[in-house]
Amino acid sequence: MRLQPPSVIFQATHYQGPPAFILRQHSPMKDFYIGDCPRHENKVVTSTFVVVGKQIKPKKTGEPYLALTLGDRSGQLEAKMWDNVEEVLDIFEQDDFLKIKGLINKYKNRFQLTIHKLRKLGESEIDFADYLPKTTKDVGELWQTLVGFVATFQNPHLKSLVQAFMDDPELASAYRNAPAAKTLHHAYIGGLLDHVVSLFRSCDLMSTNYPQINRDLLLTGAFLHDIGKVHELTYNRSFSYTTKGQLLGHMIIELEMLQAKLALFPGFPEDLKTLIEHLIISHHGQYDFGSPKLPMFPEALMLHYLDDLDSKMEAMRATFEREAGMDSPWTSYNPSLGRPLLNPAKFLAPKKAAPPQEPDLSPDLELDATESVDPAPSIPAPNSGR
Ligand SMILES: [Fe+2]
Ligand SMILES: [Fe+2]
Repeated sequence: MRLQPPSVIFQATHYQGPPAFILRQHSPMKDFYIGDCPRHENKVVTSTFVVVGKQIKPKKTGEPYLALTLGDRSGQLEAKMWDNVEEVLDIFEQDDFLKIKGLINKYKNRFQLTIHKLRKLGESEIDFADYLPKTTKDVGELWQTLVGFVATFQNPHLKSLVQAFMDDPELASAYRNAPAAKTLHHAYIGGLLDHVVSLFRSCDLMSTNYPQINRDLLLTGAFLHDIGKVHELTYNRSFSYTTKGQLLGHMIIELEMLQAKLALFPGFPEDLKTLIEHLIISHHGQYDFGSPKLPMFPEALMLHYLDDLDSKMEAMRATFEREAGMDSPWTSYNPSLGRPLLNPAKFLAPKKAAPPQEPDLSPDLELDATESVDPAPSIPAPNSGR
């Protein structure tokens, strides 16, 4: 995705193949996960986390404090360290792993961690599988679903092209592991494949409702529209952008990948190639979301809307899941969608004695008496992170 919450600091690194956790099997397990917060409210916990974001901010007194975004495979958690900060400021960076002792509490209806002590962990103390979120679905089954759809293609050129991508072992491995985005939707190992399978199903359904749609062309666009994420994002420790991803973005990378693959097919129709290129570059649907052209034929328009729908539906589902332990039917402010969300299942459930809280309509600024006020964060526009 193009944008990220303002609290996240990038560290651009090169794509280094499949996530390291695949290579490591025998390291200590964590005993507390971020998803366990509701059971540990107002308790002191000791656990290990990956540093997703690190900021050093001034208190009103001018002394520094640490504002961290911590991650593990169950989610992310904002954390603050107020005391004895100087001695730990420089011992770790983003993507390092920390052992932390601190208090879990709720602030503005969200869990946060107040850090008492921390130390940096060595590689031998880490099992990477504990830190990167991963799809709960069977990746092999998801892949077979794609294979099944592609087997039904009528157009021999499009069928051969997509199969050539799927038969490329290095690419297939990356496609099965990559997240679909850094934070906004499907931000987990296997997320790209999960997103594309869901999109294939939507495209297939919609193409029966609109018979003028070229189904093979639409599905080819769905397969390729985010394939550049395998080079745009790095997902070895936490998710971030590669330098190439930062500088070019996934759509430009995809044109390059398409060009390289089409070199294997000298007889591929030039006009069909142009349509595929347009599907790729127009799928964000708007100039200010990175598309240099607006969708100009029906398959391109449909791909844009179905992609947008799928990413937003998943962003909503993930928000409800992440905040399942909260009492209020309103979620916290969702930066990717630019609004708080109402969970209808909680809203319609039999009411407890206390009325539901009002939605938090403000961007997520966590302020308290000891914290100085930053300028309002820029809120990523809806759709901007596909
Ligand atoms: Fe997408
Ligand atoms: Fe995209």
